[in-house]
Amino acid sequence: MIALVISLRGLDFIDVADLEPGDLRRLLDRAHEIKAGRWAEKALKGKHVAMLFQRPSHRTRVSFEVGIARLGGTTTTLTGQDVQLGFRESVGDAARVLDRYVDAVVARLRSHADLLQLARSSVKPVINALTDHSHPCQVLADLMTLEELRGDLAQQHVVYIGDGNNIANSLIQASVLTGLALTVITPPGYDPDASVVERARRINSGKNHVTLTSQINVQHATAIYTDVWASMGQEDERAVRQKVFSAYQVNQRLMDSARDAVFMHCLPAHRGEEVTDEVMDGPRSVVFQQAENRLYAQMALLAGLLGG
Ligand code: CP
Ligand code: NVA
Repeated sequence: MIALVISLRGLDFIDVADLEPGDLRRLLDRAHEIKAGRWAEKALKGKHVAMLFQRPSHRTRVSFEVGIARLGGTTTTLTGQDVQLGFRESVGDAARVLDRYVDAVVARLRSHADLLQLARSSVKPVINALTDHSHPCQVLADLMTLEELRGDLAQQHVVYIGDGNNIANSLIQASVLTGLALTVITPPGYDPDASVVERARRINSGKNHVTLTSQINVQHATAIYTDVWASMGQEDERAVRQKVFSAYQVNQRLMDSARDAVFMHCLPAHRGEEVTDEVMDGPRSVVFQQAENRLYAQMALLAGLLGG
């Protein structure tokens, strides 16, 4: 069996872009092996992981807790009230304390700058469990799902439609790494992060893997992906965004214009806004397969980072 060695910069997993193509390949192979029951090492035996959540979470929290337990490790989960990062103590001080107790920190922080500060102040590996900028663990599971469904990522075309948010940013980074064709359709003014796009254009020069547009055309999609129009922290903008994004809903009419495409969503979904019940519950929806794969992709990541 090939050893899974992930050469992450400084051993943190902040973004998909932290991975080399070979690291990602090994990680996805390991994730498939775990799911198939062909790899069951207790790679985290004796290891303790702190989980820090400044925002709500269902999938991320449960899949990490279950995954760490299956790998033989233990967890302490802290929510916003417990640590009160930046209020009760600085991000740097909190990191230096956690460092003395645990072997890794999984953190869902409001601000990406705070996550970078946490990682800089911490000797132990820090894993990004979502920030306003990116959601790399979600996209690892999405890549695994796409491989299960259709094999070679370089032969597939994901059309992401909606807000140019953390999911869109991580998908762009994944496209650069894998050759997955990606079209990001957003209303004008709701583009993905400019630095993520600029980096993709620079690395991909001439290959045209990533297309940004406000024109809704999903004809050549092998997967249509959407996410909420107002992310966590943007609740006040929800009414405005419902108007701006209304033409960008994934409904049966849109799915009918891409006959070959599966439907993807990171969840939680706001049914009736970015996606209709008919599509969410329809035969082409793979949203629960994506959610399930969070477990295996993160187990592979943890085993790579902490498994000795
Ligand atoms: N997709 C995802 O990260 O879900 P949670 O916010 O429930 O963790
Ligand atoms: N864009 C969403 C993703 C939730 C998993 C948010 O940040 O709220």
